[in-house]
Amino acid sequence: MKIVVVGGTGLIGSKLVTMLTRDGHEAVSASRRSGVDVVSPDGLAEALKGASVVIDVTNAPSFEDAAVMKFFKTSTHNLLTAEAAAGVTHHVALSVVGTERLLHSGYLRAKCAQERLIKESPTPYSIIQATQFFEFLQAIADAATHGTAVRLPPVHIQPIAADDVARAVARIATGAPLNGTREIGGPEPFYLDGLIQRVLGAYNDSREVIADPHARYFGTELSQNSLVPGDEAELGAIRFDEWIGWMVRISDQNRQDSVRPAAKIDRPLRENEFRVSEVPPGSVLLVGNVAAFNVEGGFCATQAMCTHRHGPLSEGVIDGSTVTCPLHGAQFNVWTGAVLHGPATEPLKTYALTVEGDVGRVGVPLTQAFQGA
Ligand SMILES: NC(=O)c1ccc[n+]([C@@H]2O[C@H](COP(=O)([O-])OP(=O)(O)OC[C@H]3O[C@@H](n4cnc5c(N)ncnc54)[C@H](OP(=O)(O)O)[C@@H]3O)[C@@H](O)[C@H]2O)c1
Ligand code: FES
Repeated sequence: MKIVVVGGTGLIGSKLVTMLTRDGHEAVSASRRSGVDVVSPDGLAEALKGASVVIDVTNAPSFEDAAVMKFFKTSTHNLLTAEAAAGVTHHVALSVVGTERLLHSGYLRAKCAQERLIKESPTPYSIIQATQFFEFLQAIADAATHGTAVRLPPVHIQPIAADDVARAVARIATGAPLNGTREIGGPEPFYLDGLIQRVLGAYNDSREVIADPHARYFGTELSQNSLVPGDEAELGAIRFDEWIGWMVRISDQNRQDSVRPAAKIDRPLRENEFRVSEVPPGSVLLVGNVAAFNVEGGFCATQAMCTHRHGPLSEGVIDGSTVTCPLHGAQFNVWTGAVLHGPATEPLKTYALTVEGDVGRVGVPLTQAFQGA
């Protein structure tokens, strides 16, 4: 089956082309790099010849309100027109969970307009609304940064790995059109402010996240569940701590040659500070009543005492992002504080941890992760 992946050079598109080709389909990547422009629409009619399915995973080059609206309206209109002429029988588009709830955001207004055009067209379709990709979390931090602070509301978020998104889109695209919308999300919910602080900590980024209920998320205020999918959503398999572990390892490998020793900060340390050289990868240090962990180069912090019977976690065994309590063997995820194995039942409190030069600093407690997250 010929499947045209429009935006096939992007994050999701490139994964889709690989997966669909591996499954034996004729997957064709179409984007400006291959001479197909969905806006102008140069090369589009030619690319769609003989295609049964078109998957639209393009994204707008500019997120400015008017530009993004123009992009999604024009590109979707051009795609649907070219598909009708080419006899395409399934149009698949990737959108965002909560689009219809967050119309103060110019970007999501544009995604809503895209969805409307698809629903009004005679071409059978499937709309897949995904939650935020793990790969997008740093962009969320950047967009919310003011000076050295990142202001975000303490609302729920249930992000998903791009690999899981691509797998779901590939499966839906090769099945019968839904003529409706399917939500997909990650396997576990988090609080947005706490999760972003963990991402920054993992990359030794010294920015600090401040929980601010009125902070705007890409131009819009969020309510507690506006980013979270409904009960019927399909959930991805890749957990955040697995993914962040891979990412930290990759960025460490990339850094190895170019790394210079961290700049030395020459002053006495405060009570909540430590030298990062004292905590090599795979080890833990007691900083006041907090345990500071180095997970393969990324730092995070939890309360130092086990929630079962106060076992000293700074003396526990660390394996990847799991710490095992030395007293009765309870296991916790050190990024999220979640209980992985009893006898403990209560998650650990987690703390912001920032690194500047050769100094690590334990900050405020993070909003408690969901149980099981
Ligand atoms: N980021 C998230 O967390 C998230 C969550 C839910 C849904 N989504 C949706 O997922 C979709 C894909 O996102 P992504 O992160 O994979 O996008 P991406 O990596 O930014 O890729 C965008 C793709 O669009 C192509 N493109 C841009 N302008 C084009 C044009 N005029 N004509 C043809 N192709 C064009 C680009 O290729 P060229 O530069 O070669 O043209 C590229 O292949 C988006 O629609 C987004 O709304 C994102
Ligand atoms: S005190 Fe940690 S498992 Fe009992």
